[in-house]
Amino acid sequence: MTRTVAVGEPEAMVPAPLDVERLRRDFPILGRTVHGRPLVYLDNAATTQKPEPVIAAEADVYRRYNANVHRAIHTLGEEATFAYEEARRKVAALIGAPDPRGCVFVRNATEGLNLVAWAWGRRRLRPGDEVLLTPMEHHSNLVPWQLVAAETGARLRFVPLLPDGHLDVGALERDSLLNERTRIVAFTQASNVLGTLTPAAEICRRARAVGAVSVLDAAQGVPHLPVDVRALGCDFLAFSGHKLYAPLGIGVLWGRPELLEETEPFLGGGEMILRVDLTCSTWNEVPYKFEAGTPNVAGAVGLGAAVDYLRAVGLEAVAAHEADLTRYALERLGELPDVTIYGPPMPRGPLVTFNVGAIHPHDLAQFLDQEGVAVRAGHHCAQPLMRHLGVAATARASFALYNTRAEVDALCAAVRRAGAFFHG
Ligand code: ALA
Repeated sequence: MTRTVAVGEPEAMVPAPLDVERLRRDFPILGRTVHGRPLVYLDNAATTQKPEPVIAAEADVYRRYNANVHRAIHTLGEEATFAYEEARRKVAALIGAPDPRGCVFVRNATEGLNLVAWAWGRRRLRPGDEVLLTPMEHHSNLVPWQLVAAETGARLRFVPLLPDGHLDVGALERDSLLNERTRIVAFTQASNVLGTLTPAAEICRRARAVGAVSVLDAAQGVPHLPVDVRALGCDFLAFSGHKLYAPLGIGVLWGRPELLEETEPFLGGGEMILRVDLTCSTWNEVPYKFEAGTPNVAGAVGLGAAVDYLRAVGLEAVAAHEADLTRYALERLGELPDVTIYGPPMPRGPLVTFNVGAIHPHDLAQFLDQEGVAVRAGHHCAQPLMRHLGVAATARASFALYNTRAEVDALCAAVRRAGAFFHG
């Protein structure tokens, strides 16, 4: 998947370009039309489409070995359990987790972040303790901390943003944002609105230096960047499978083993217990302590297949392809009249958030949909960030491994037509 650059260039391995046309054939949905136009799907930060091997792996569970896991003493149960645990091993390998038991299957990043906030944070935070966040957090990494802060008396603080959308890391020291009262630093690896990539390893290291626990929302990171929890040095990391070509309803919370050990259960029920008496219970070992009830076995197996797929395509090659699309989209959209683009220059995550003059983003998205182009419009579950930007909403185009420059051209042509239609 890599080639050496030509003689005379600096010695480095650069990924070979993706054969996008071939890869597109793996995604059956990309062959459909919308309003009589070929689908141009640019809402990948909301959810990605699924390749045939993922669809097949999930369906295969129901066709061949559907059973409950860790319970059934029969062949189907053993096969389902093996496949479920195999998926956990694949996920662990993807994020560099030394032990698959550190990977808890949850529904999505939101559930993973809530698990940390409620089961770890709520039990440890005291009045006056501080939780450090950023103003560009998705609501899923903000609202749980608001709820927990209200219960515990902890105080929420925020690392400010620089005008270009990067975090003002200097404020950590300058404004004493990281101090002896900081217990938790919870932040996004990549903003779902601005595309900002945060200096995650540095922030985790500095959090640890003051004795705080770091919680990384990697929902927009893991699908696009090679992620290694050891290199990041984080304590918890959460992501969703559905943004990573996997089925809906499956996600992962990774936790440092010693922290997961000391974390109390989040949900009670079957599977998470060792012994139950009428008035008290003891807990199963990690990660099962956090997997109450029948899990999404087929979803997990589909996630394992998605990890296989992504690794076979090549994470570096995907990242390079998406960076090319993002750079191209920033250039092309930036040439259009009345277009305002939000967020920092490259390098950034593979999305472009923008507005076109006074056109409401919902009107714009509806117009684009008529042209077959799917983008997201709204507040992107980041209302405080919208207020910071001084807008009610924006449109957002976000890319995945199967998108092409021709699709960026289709977006730009449709945006140009929308401008002419609404502005006259
Ligand atoms: N968090 C997803 C998005 O940004 C839903 O669209």
